[in-house]
Amino acid sequence: MRFFNSHNEYGLLAKLFHWLTFIVLIAQVPFGFYLVGLEFSDERIELENIHILVGITIFYLTLFRLIWKFFNKSPSETKSFFKGQVFIGKANHFLLYVTIFSITISGILKKLYMGERLNFIFFKYGFEKDNFVLADAYYEFHIYANYLLLALVSLHILAVIVHHFVFKDKILNKIT
Ligand code: HEM
Ligand code: HEM
Repeated sequence: MRFFNSHNEYGLLAKLFHWLTFIVLIAQVPFGFYLVGLEFSDERIELENIHILVGITIFYLTLFRLIWKFFNKSPSETKSFFKGQVFIGKANHFLLYVTIFSITISGILKKLYMGERLNFIFFKYGFEKDNFVLADAYYEFHIYANYLLLALVSLHILAVIVHHFVFKDKILNKIT
């Protein structure tokens, strides 16, 4: 398997980024919903810290992935079956990236506006002053962005199923 993307398929690193993000995200979304239902306790604080660390890791993963994408040309488009298909696919991918950044950045801003210092893995940072109104607003954004992510991922997977079973093209071979 090649390390770099080729004309027909993604390279090893792009595939790793894709499937690692998938595995971490399918755990992180239900974990977030589970977390908010818990009573206040030391265990909840511990779990929230894990949620935050995993979330910040997803942020870096997506950032490195996009830098890699910038320097390494993506495989060519799969043959179109209807007008606008390439545009829809690209828009779905673009919005997936935007939504992952929206979720992670809104989560980070919520905590920073609560007046907390965060561990960004490579450094630690906190705002000088808290602002609970903004903290609430970013948290609301965090929740809606998660619903948007669920909708986009569902569309993404539905498209792959249609490609595989209806169009019968080799789209899955590009990423597996
Ligand atoms: C959390 C779930 C997922 C996310 C966030 C996600 C995200 C993405 C993104 C952003 C791309 C575009 C890559 C690029 O930059 O060029 C992509 C491509 C792709 N993904 Fe996913 N993906 C997810 C799950 C899946 C699953 C479960 C499958 C298979 C059933 C899948 C199959 C594919 C395929 C085949 C492509 C290549 C599409 C093409 O080049 O036309 N993805 N995915
Ligand atoms: C892609 C990564 C992330 C996903 C998928 C995600 C998902 C979620 C979900 C689904 C919830 C539950 C929302 C609700 O129904 O109220 C939640 C809560 C929360 N998230 Fe995230 N999140 C991510 C990253 C982050 C980051 C980076 C931070 C902060 C640095 C963060 C901080 C929080 C906080 C503080 C809560 C509320 C927990 C509580 O009340 O105990 N999240 N998250």
